[in-house]
Amino acid sequence: MNERIRADFPILKDIIYMDSAATSLTPEPVLEAVLSYYREYNANVGRGVHRLSQVVSQKYKDAHRKVAGFIGANEGEVIFTKNTTEAINMVAYGLNWAKGDEIVTTLLEHHSNFLPWLRLKEKGVHLKIVKPNKAGLFELSDFEPAMSDRTRLVAVTQVSNVLGTISPIKEISAICKEKGGEDSLFLVDGAQSAPHIPVDVGELGCDFIAFSGHKMLGPTGTGVLWVKNPNELEPTLFGGGMIESVSKDDYTLAGGYERFEAGTPHIAGGIGLGRAVDYLKEVGTGEIRDYEERLAKKLLEGLQSIEKVQVYGSTNLSERIGVISFTMTGLHPHEIALMLDEASDILVRSGHHCCMPLMDYLGLKDGTVRASVYLYNTEGEVDTFLETVERIAKVV
Ligand SMILES: Cc1ncc(COP(=O)(O)O)c(C=O)c1O
Repeated sequence: MNERIRADFPILKDIIYMDSAATSLTPEPVLEAVLSYYREYNANVGRGVHRLSQVVSQKYKDAHRKVAGFIGANEGEVIFTKNTTEAINMVAYGLNWAKGDEIVTTLLEHHSNFLPWLRLKEKGVHLKIVKPNKAGLFELSDFEPAMSDRTRLVAVTQVSNVLGTISPIKEISAICKEKGGEDSLFLVDGAQSAPHIPVDVGELGCDFIAFSGHKMLGPTGTGVLWVKNPNELEPTLFGGGMIESVSKDDYTLAGGYERFEAGTPHIAGGIGLGRAVDYLKEVGTGEIRDYEERLAKKLLEGLQSIEKVQVYGSTNLSERIGVISFTMTGLHPHEIALMLDEASDILVRSGHHCCMPLMDYLGLKDGTVRASVYLYNTEGEVDTFLETVERIAKVV
């Protein structure tokens, strides 16, 4: 698939970008969609009757429809946010919590799917934390004792941003519905899954999924919260654009996504995100998954064969994506990242990856180096990466 795709990412001409788990690159068609908003129909959404207002409102709505289609949902259930973090916080702030409520989460979580729940301790909400094994995989039976009739929410990441491992979301959802409270809800952090593996909210059996547009070829400042029953969630922001009517004493909220998108949204970004999911669909989410699996295999096998390198996470390719963490005896992860950049223009992430509880659990106080690949990376780039890591390991 590669040459045609790479032509859409001119930034790749002199770098090897392996930091897509932090943010992905943006292809030309998405940039064009963003620019065409400003060049051709720059106006506000949902507020006017003039011609530009009508064009932009329709395009913004279409973008919601496209993103909804991408995850097997309906248009009115998809709310545009600025990122995954905002989306998860909307759930934390938008549900009514009672003292004694319980939240089940895991030790794999990114801080964005951990702190919003930890903060609720102030309200008397208890947090139960399920541990994966050291490879990042769960025993399903570990979720059962964590659930009770006080379980209000289960919040789990579908793919670990450190270990790349895929969690059994469908099965966890079934346990949540069976063993949790009658009104227990299930939130999936899809920040690392939506860009890389086919995601269907019906199949996952969740009530919320949050993900970031900027990690799936969309513009920065874009993210998504899908809500199964929008009426069960209180909006966190109130103001223009989210009401049906307002009187001196009262108001009636609008339905659908508008209820949660008070104020002028990131219109160009939302339209760009719609174009990004079209792009991913054109390439094919299954094809992307297969292609990245090939790159991940090469990366894993290559890294494992280098002396002094320790690789983390499951090595079974069917239960992981191309997000690969490693360390090297004798060097700090930041040193390795700098050396990769300096020696071969390879850009990787290093540190704790916003997962300090997981790093503590794995005994990695300095964190790891994380290489993450996407549809625009090549096998040749993986070869260069492995040769460079090998050279670095030889000089330590
Ligand atoms: C699993 C996971 N959840 C949440 C986030 C937060 O995403 P954002 O910074 O776009 O809010 C990230 C970002 O890396 C992530 O990997």
